[in-house]
Amino acid sequence: MRLKDKVAIVTGAGSSIGQESAILFANEGARVIIAEINDDAGQETAERIGKNALFVRIDVSSWDDTQRMVKSAVDHFGGLDILFNNAGIDLPYATTVVDTEISDWERIININLKGVFLGVHHALPIMMAQNSGVIISTASRAGLGATKGEAAYCASKGGVVSLTRQLAIDYAQYNIRVNSICPGGIDRPTIDRSEFLEQSVGALERRNEQIIQKVPIGRLCSPQDVAQAALYLASDASAYVTGTALVVDGGGLAL
Ligand SMILES: NC(=O)c1ccc[n+]([C@@H]2O[C@H](COP(=O)([O-])OP(=O)(O)OC[C@H]3O[C@@H](n4cnc5c(N)ncnc54)[C@H](O)[C@@H]3O)[C@@H](O)[C@H]2O)c1
Repeated sequence: MRLKDKVAIVTGAGSSIGQESAILFANEGARVIIAEINDDAGQETAERIGKNALFVRIDVSSWDDTQRMVKSAVDHFGGLDILFNNAGIDLPYATTVVDTEISDWERIININLKGVFLGVHHALPIMMAQNSGVIISTASRAGLGATKGEAAYCASKGGVVSLTRQLAIDYAQYNIRVNSICPGGIDRPTIDRSEFLEQSVGALERRNEQIIQKVPIGRLCSPQDVAQAALYLASDASAYVTGTALVVDGGGLAL
């Protein structure tokens, strides 16, 4: 049991990476706040875990919601040891800077980058007071290397990688470790993009084939691959690891 008696928050825990991570954390002994904007999805993950999970409906881009999320961990489970900022969105289709609507730019930055800032902002005072804590954020391979047409998304994820490094140096003195994970293309794109691609015959398969061609390991990333990386960063196995961007991309960036 690598997370015995730990209390964790996982945002975006209703689907894919977040759901796998929440279940894995619980199987390793953690009690988990399922922080999710989609009621049905959040409830489903919480029900799959049972009494060691609590679903809290939140929007990560809201100050009040993220404050209530952290308070729920303290009130319901008695503290907060691990914050996994995982919720994120992408635009349904790629857009260059010239083609990006300002409303889309703001939505991406608000959820993917401000969402991390807000979660961390509310969680840090608790972690500082107990002189321990772990913060993990899901960035992306696109936060380190650019992806054509993904202007807002790349900017938001690059921001997460950079904010992570900055937090690591400010809060190491409180025994708080801060790391990001940079997954390659997951076997299912984020919900918005999946729904868009599924409207055209073969578009999802083409997306997957294009990614696989650039991955030396020769397959897409799975949510479980990322969940295992998150478990490593959440556990004492990574006690000397902070400020890093852990790339989980089958060797894509090494090419
Ligand atoms: N899918 C990929 O190919 C890929 C690759 C690299 C990184 N990522 C990143 O991984 C993370 C998880 O993505 P995923 O692939 O599991 O996507 P997903 O769309 O399957 O899951 C994201 C979850 O976050 C929730 N969510 C969305 N907006 C929210 C908000 N404002 N507040 C709270 N919850 C919200 C959704 O309801 C969903 O349950 C994201 O940060 C994404 O950018 C995904």
